[in-house]
Amino acid sequence: MEYRNITIAYWERTILRDINILIEPGEFVFLIGTSGSGKTSFIKSLLWAKKLKSGNIIDDNGTDIAEFSPKELLEYRRSLGIIFQDFKLLPKKTVRENVAFAMEVCGYSAYEITRRVPEVLAKVWLLAKKEVFVETLSGWEIQRTCIARALIHDPQIIIWDEPTGNLDRTNATEIMHLLNELNQSGKTIIMATHDETIVNSMKKRVIAFEDGKIVSDKEWGNYCL
Ligand SMILES: Nc1ncnc2c1ncn2[C@@H]1O[C@H](COP(=O)(O)OP(=O)(O)OP(=O)(O)O)[C@@H](O)[C@H]1O
Ligand SMILES: [Mg+2]
Repeated sequence: MEYRNITIAYWERTILRDINILIEPGEFVFLIGTSGSGKTSFIKSLLWAKKLKSGNIIDDNGTDIAEFSPKELLEYRRSLGIIFQDFKLLPKKTVRENVAFAMEVCGYSAYEITRRVPEVLAKVWLLAKKEVFVETLSGWEIQRTCIARALIHDPQIIIWDEPTGNLDRTNATEIMHLLNELNQSGKTIIMATHDETIVNSMKKRVIAFEDGKIVSDKEWGNYCL
């Protein structure tokens, strides 16, 4: 997708100004920047959950997302798998029930749900935990449940908005493995993160935000703040 000269503001306060970014299908991109630099706002605009002050976002089919009808917007959003900082799971339900519930809400049939849930749980290595209640899961297992839920529509683009310091150090290797697997299956990966170790060891494209601008955009980048 492509961001063309976009500006994002909350009322009079500009967060990102005149940003241009092209992300090709199948790319792997880290978004970095200090807290408040606009990573989440950048992601929300891609979902069209935050409108732009100016500029255009063009999807992988060349359509300006501002021009979608409500139905097209829904379809477009389904092509994005989002793991958000503040996504809530239902603690009194199991891993399986949480993913199934997300599918129910989206109108999938019981047959589809029974078929699809084990598939997505397998992708995040959670099949063995499918009947475990979410309230008893570890942080990384919770994250993976959220990832499984984001995969239900088989999205082309996976967006992970990582909360500050939420990832356990010991899981870094697993996280990288999982992201690589998803990327190798052809998905575009966009991950907003503060995790220096992950960024530095993955050697992927790194886009850095600061003071409302892109201060660095490098293939094979490092955590350069
Ligand atoms: N709904 C909102 N209304 C007003 N200001 C907002 C709103 N959402 C975010 N902001 C402000 O916009 C700026 C960018 O926020 P954003 O959440 O995009 O940053 P971030 O880079 O994701 O930070 P973090 O690394 O902490 O997640 C912040 O100063 C924030 O306070
Ligand atoms: Mg954020």
